[in-house]
Amino acid sequence: MQKRELGIGLIGTGFMGKAHAFAYRMALAAFPDIPTPRLVAIADVNATSAAEAAHQYGFESSSGNWRDLIANPAIDVISITTPNSFHKEMTLAALSAGKHVHCEKPLSPSLADSLEMVEAAEAKGLITQVGFNYIKNPMLKLAREMIEAGELGEITGFRGIHAEDYMHDPASPWTWRIDPKGGPGVVADLGSHIICMARYLLGGIAEINADLRTIVKQRPIAVGSSDMKPVEVDDMARMLVTFERGCAGTLEATWVNTGRKMHLAFEVTGVKGSLVFNQEHLNELHFYKAGGDPRTSGFAKIESGPVHPPYGQFCVASGHQLGFNDLKTIEMGEFLRGIALGKATGPDFREAYNIQKVVEAAVASSKTRAWERVGK
Ligand SMILES: NC(=O)c1ccc[n+]([C@@H]2O[C@H](COP(=O)([O-])OP(=O)(O)OC[C@H]3O[C@@H](n4cnc5c(N)ncnc54)[C@H](O)[C@@H]3O)[C@@H](O)[C@H]2O)c1
Repeated sequence: MQKRELGIGLIGTGFMGKAHAFAYRMALAAFPDIPTPRLVAIADVNATSAAEAAHQYGFESSSGNWRDLIANPAIDVISITTPNSFHKEMTLAALSAGKHVHCEKPLSPSLADSLEMVEAAEAKGLITQVGFNYIKNPMLKLAREMIEAGELGEITGFRGIHAEDYMHDPASPWTWRIDPKGGPGVVADLGSHIICMARYLLGGIAEINADLRTIVKQRPIAVGSSDMKPVEVDDMARMLVTFERGCAGTLEATWVNTGRKMHLAFEVTGVKGSLVFNQEHLNELHFYKAGGDPRTSGFAKIESGPVHPPYGQFCVASGHQLGFNDLKTIEMGEFLRGIALGKATGPDFREAYNIQKVVEAAVASSKTRAWERVGK
């Protein structure tokens, strides 16, 4: 029933290209039940980078043209780690060649493009995955289980934020990340992660009232250049949300918060307790249980270990800690297992589309200065 080997074609050799390569190399070591990923080919618009990456990551071949990977019959799976504006074209070509697709987030620049990608994948019955790696953390799985089991009681509120500072310096040049051809700014780039996390923990978001701002109004066209180009996308997003389950929350996304490196964090509050998480300490979940002895009550620190699957697939000892690339390995392991079983674990294209609906509603709300319903 299961295909024991899956040929992998990876497009892009940047930050995420490397993370995908690590994950495909590690996935079988962590998860012996999955098909063997065979690293068939890697492509980049820069053919030299592709050749160097093929050597370094152990791919059998490389190309300066991503279409070579689509045409290669030895490739069953295409991983797309290019800038957002290329996602749709590459995905649709891969799907029409019958390949399963992992695409980095956000799925595409617009809701209409995302829907086209969802419908193409579903029509073909192919397995898809989108790179929302942070919810693959065993601590997030535990948080969701605790919420679902009622350990926090009725949920009364959610505070979520994804703050980094990689665009805080006005001398940082214009890049594909602020090219409007790639969609909105930080509300899509980092906002999609905290929206994904909020949905993973508490379910759908019904309505939103957002304030999106551009803090750095122009940037040099290249490092050190005095030629400036206006910035048209948001640097900072603040959102009030109402969840479908009834409780309210706030979400923030910013890439200009000086000093913040990976502040992807949440606090979820219920009548019986609260949970607090911060990706900068991704092996910890803090749990406050109401009703204890007031002299000794406080947040308890839960440290990840083999009792929190799939931590034990990486290390037999508690507290030794997983890292970012381990989360990506969990994601790839689930993706490859999903292909073998014919069922996506997600987040798949459909879930990425649902996340994009929230992004679009935030953009609309910021323009109308009013509450917007998140599209059904
Ligand atoms: N899941 C996460 O945590 C996470 C983190 C960072 C980025 N991302 C997403 O990953 C994607 C890539 O981001 P990145 O930070 O790796 O970018 P990057 O700029 O580091 O790398 C992009 C790569 O794509 C290549 N490329 C560009 N155009 C191409 C083309 N036409 N054909 C082939 N290769 C091409 C570039 O040469 C480069 O190697 C984006 O969608 C981004 O939102 C996800």
